[in-house]
Amino acid sequence: MKDIFKIAVLVSGGGTNLQSIIDNINSGYLNCSIEMVISDREDIYALKRAEDNNIKTYVLDKNTYGESLSDEILKIVEEKVDLIVLAGWLSHLKGNLIDRFANNIINIHPSLIPSFSGKGMYGIKVHEKAIEYGVKVSGCTVHIVDSGMDTGPIILQRAVPVLTEDTAETLQKRVLVEEHVALSEAIKYFIENKIEIIHRKVIINS
Ligand code: GRF
Repeated sequence: MKDIFKIAVLVSGGGTNLQSIIDNINSGYLNCSIEMVISDREDIYALKRAEDNNIKTYVLDKNTYGESLSDEILKIVEEKVDLIVLAGWLSHLKGNLIDRFANNIINIHPSLIPSFSGKGMYGIKVHEKAIEYGVKVSGCTVHIVDSGMDTGPIILQRAVPVLTEDTAETLQKRVLVEEHVALSEAIKYFIENKIEIIHRKVIINS
């Protein structure tokens, strides 16, 4: 009997993306288990969401661990999970963790990468830049995490209209709805082993 698909979820904030994964497991849409939630800071609501759902949590304060943060995460997840999901995670991952889990770490970013992505582009800042630029369409991207910042192969994207009267906040709200759909859809592709990566191209096999 094959073991259930196991994931680790990394968080740095409110955890609405984590919550969407929990809800999709409870509804039966995702056939996987969240083995642990790891955060890079204390006192974030994502940790309460995990505790409320009896999910083991680890807090690795980014200021304490600094450059060794990725190695510390590897100690926790190695041989324990099939996929690492960054869900509102803000610290840069690198080194052995990226190598050992090559192509099995995914991130959700609140824009259509390569627009409004990379160093310093996270949270509300992404939407401020989109409004400032005057784009007519924005959205979210789920991508493979490599050693860069938001640079890995793109798994899927979901687009939303940007309205004339939009503020960064109203756009953020519209994109967040799509993030919650996109992230679980991507996880499902991994559970069902449908992902194939050829150079930068991600193919979703039916
Ligand atoms: C979301 O916009 C997500 O795309 C970004 O962090 C924000 C907060 O996510 N990476 P969450 O509510 O903590 O899941």
